[in-house]
Amino acid sequence: MAPSTYELRRGKYAKLDAPGDDDIETPTRQSFDSNASSYEDLEEYDPLNYDAGTLKQKRSTGDLRTRKASFKHQEYATPAPKARRRWALGRLCCWLLTFVAATVLLLASGGIWAWNSSAPPDGQSPPWYPSPKGGTDKAWAESYKKAAELVTQMTLVEKVNVTTGTGWSMQFCVGNTGPVPRLNFPALCLQDGPLGIRFADNITAFPAGVTVGATWNKELMYQRGKAHGKEARLKGVHVLLGPAMGPLGRMPAGGRVWEGFGSDPVLQGIAAAQTIKGIQEEGVMATAKHYVLNEQEHFRQALEWGTPNAISSNIDDRTLHEIYAWPFADSVRAGVASIMCSYNQVNNSYACQNSKLMNGILKDELGFQGFVQSDWLAQRSGVASALAGLDMTMPGDGLKWADADSLWGPQLTKAVLNGSVPMDRLDDMVTRVVAAWYQLGQDDTDKWPLPPPDGEGGPNFSSWTHEKIGKIYHGSPSDTRTGVVNKFINAQGEGDDSHGKLVRRVAAEGTVLVKNEDHVLPLDRKGWKANEKANKEMKFRVGVFGEDARRSRNGINACPDQSCNDGTLTTGWGSGAVDYPYLVEPFSAVREAFNNESVYVTDWLENTLPSQKEILEDQDICIVFGNSIAGEGYLKWEDVRGDRNDLYLQKKGDKLIQDVAKGCGKGNGKVIVVVHTVGPVILENWIDLPTVKAVVIANLPSQESGNSLVDILFGEINPSGRLPYTIAKKEDDFGPGSKIKFFPSPKDVFAPQQNFSEGLYIDYRYFDKKDIAPRYEFGFGLSYTEFHLSSLLITSQGPKSPLPAPRPSGLEPPTYSTDLPNPKSALFPKGFHKIEKYIYPYLESIDDIGKTEVKAAQLQSPLGEAGGAQGGNPDLYTTVVSVSASLTNTGPVDGDCVVQLYVSFPENYNDDVTGEPVDFPVRVLRGFEKLSVDASKQASVKGPQGRGSGNSQTVNFDLTRKDLSYWDTRRQNWVMPTSGEFKISVGFSSRDLPLQGTW
Ligand code: BGC
Ligand code: BGC
Repeated sequence: MAPSTYELRRGKYAKLDAPGDDDIETPTRQSFDSNASSYEDLEEYDPLNYDAGTLKQKRSTGDLRTRKASFKHQEYATPAPKARRRWALGRLCCWLLTFVAATVLLLASGGIWAWNSSAPPDGQSPPWYPSPKGGTDKAWAESYKKAAELVTQMTLVEKVNVTTGTGWSMQFCVGNTGPVPRLNFPALCLQDGPLGIRFADNITAFPAGVTVGATWNKELMYQRGKAHGKEARLKGVHVLLGPAMGPLGRMPAGGRVWEGFGSDPVLQGIAAAQTIKGIQEEGVMATAKHYVLNEQEHFRQALEWGTPNAISSNIDDRTLHEIYAWPFADSVRAGVASIMCSYNQVNNSYACQNSKLMNGILKDELGFQGFVQSDWLAQRSGVASALAGLDMTMPGDGLKWADADSLWGPQLTKAVLNGSVPMDRLDDMVTRVVAAWYQLGQDDTDKWPLPPPDGEGGPNFSSWTHEKIGKIYHGSPSDTRTGVVNKFINAQGEGDDSHGKLVRRVAAEGTVLVKNEDHVLPLDRKGWKANEKANKEMKFRVGVFGEDARRSRNGINACPDQSCNDGTLTTGWGSGAVDYPYLVEPFSAVREAFNNESVYVTDWLENTLPSQKEILEDQDICIVFGNSIAGEGYLKWEDVRGDRNDLYLQKKGDKLIQDVAKGCGKGNGKVIVVVHTVGPVILENWIDLPTVKAVVIANLPSQESGNSLVDILFGEINPSGRLPYTIAKKEDDFGPGSKIKFFPSPKDVFAPQQNFSEGLYIDYRYFDKKDIAPRYEFGFGLSYTEFHLSSLLITSQGPKSPLPAPRPSGLEPPTYSTDLPNPKSALFPKGFHKIEKYIYPYLESIDDIGKTEVKAAQLQSPLGEAGGAQGGNPDLYTTVVSVSASLTNTGPVDGDCVVQLYVSFPENYNDDVTGEPVDFPVRVLRGFEKLSVDASKQASVKGPQGRGSGNSQTVNFDLTRKDLSYWDTRRQNWVMPTSGEFKISVGFSSRDLPLQGTW
């Protein structure tokens, strides 16, 4: 019997163990050196056209100038000197272990179940097969009908083409699928990312997720998504690779936590759903990523960190449901079109071939109707990933970057022909992609014109060059054809719709004021405040200190994917960063905000102070800046390889602040500290110094940094940001589970292991459980006014009952003929012109196809009772309790206030069936609303909550069954405790909860 595709892949896998760092070469973007206008005299390049019989788009041969592709070696992670010895040992160990692992893998046999026998003994992920088909949800019925009509007409190779990327940098976007030109189904452009259109011109750098989370403003979350979606549409991006909600923030130092919205599932879930609504309203498919448990960068990917396999996040079912999968459920409920499975393993099974995660949880339990795409190279097997529920492989390459040796493409064609992947699995993959395309209205050729030669659609920018003219198949070494690749479409919005305005608002509302003694803030533009008995003859003197107050001297886009901490920090780095169109630096904005007739502004925009003491001593106020960066693991800055090494300010920021605090106004000055950061920082080195009067956590503000800061410092906008994470007094306070695993341990035979043994207790849940006082708690933030809460009203909407209504049955998914075509139909057509490195669905030969028995088909996992619609059983979203309260502005100025609702489950609760005790966090966030309340008698009536009278507003919350249930692993369902009392607390932060009631 011929080996199955999977076995072939495993054979390959074995060869791949532990490459040297420079085995992997990744093309990165050229630096910005273009002068587009110099090309204007060149004739527009012929539109893309299709060769007869060619599935992929192909350029006609142009005679335009060919530009040489620039390839840069990727920077790979190497350990800090002090750790080098340990690392070297570890690494030697790793290589040995790799060899052992590879041998075991080679020896293992028996089709797709082989991984079971070679899985490390301490990890397990239950099987869930077969993959549930899409087309069961009413909300998608029309799209599935249309999709079925189209997919019915597709040939095998056409179907495969839709599932497989064409290879890294082979087309304009970071991910591109193959088209079906015969049926007018276009190649799809997939582009990063969560805060703006990566690798594109004339776009907006929106504030990062963590800043958006810090606004706690649902309307802004939605507006930002919408503006982002609009930019994607204008640039011809079909699938936007965001929002990110994983990593969720288990580890405050995690390199990519800033891409998401904060370290709590409900905050993440609401922000993600609002973002998705916004993006998708513009007709662009959103991608909820990274599914799931990719909480740290070290070892996130096989090979990238010198280990043969990616890290395994080992988790229990309840924690997975209640924490990490929660925001994905909200995303599915919001109708998200795509979900990206992550690099890491979960319970020792790669997330992109983990049937429990994709088939079981996403597609059955959460009723996900869209398609699962792999993170870039997160697919580690061919057949296994297909059977486990992966629908699209990105960027199409195989186990190594840009190897053009796809695990799908021709291998998937073969796997279907030899029976190792059932035809109906492939049909489901394609139907999901095509249905998502219809669902978003992308078949509307007015909004989404077809790509050339039939129209002017498709992406109108190239990820690989800033020039107007560039290579069409950038990643192809031998195909040097060029054409117009950048059309420089301005997507930033104009006038009132200028996205910069929205950015400024989001960044201002995402700025958290954590300390403000003696009302030092807001500042007065004239300097001295009216009530200050100072020598007003003299100019008010302000000193601005720190490199973080100014732009980088090397330019705003000097580092690849923003991977350096140079100048003011406005973003983290990685695929989630963009090229900035402009950057308003804090220093200039602050200087301009002061009236220069009465205020004298001095600056020292470095982190080491000069020897002349006057620059400090002569000030009335000192504004000092510090920061802390992190990013994605394929790049590093100094010794920060994605994950932060600690939670302190970087670049000697603490020392700078201490020195300023000591010297400012000879110890009589007032110091305002501004922190730009990717996440929690430790402030203890200076927070209690007597001159440090005010501290502002400005998170990652992006392009309008200076303006948004000024809005807050001068009170144009009353601060209403709240911390989307806890700020601890010391790093250990976050608990042992919060620590990045920097080195594999000798026990990590197959892959570094990381046990999520703290369970539900991350961030504030851990602090509350252990009764640790944080410096500033989750949800905390100050205002320039004061608020008061009263009149808590808890209304039951029905009796308590343990289980939701039975799972409703869904619609019938489309069915197709399962007949296999003549294998010859999958051969490359005669005379086909191949582009080197391009991934085609065709086979070179049909001699080695073979036959495989499909064992997976024998397994029939039971459907989950928690399922039945997008986001899960619809009854989980029935309101069971309504809560209202009255919010009054008792202070001097108008302001917005975030009212937060936390639930405490019944104490000493025992499961009603087993009698076993169930442990609950002290309290969990279950809702929040941001309200505007005027200080004056006339309330400003804003938004759906706005039914104010005088200076009060009513705030309303609806708690759903799911909000008041826990995941019972035995019943595999959400169970509501029916004995004991729930405590419902309403207040201003996770530790300031003036209103309490029970249900
Ligand atoms: C990142 C994803 C990103 C993709 C494409 C991956 O390395 O993890 O977040 O969308 O690359 O750039
Ligand atoms: C790419 C990113 C990707 C990363 C993965 C980089 O070279 O530009 O898109 O996320 O590699 O390792």
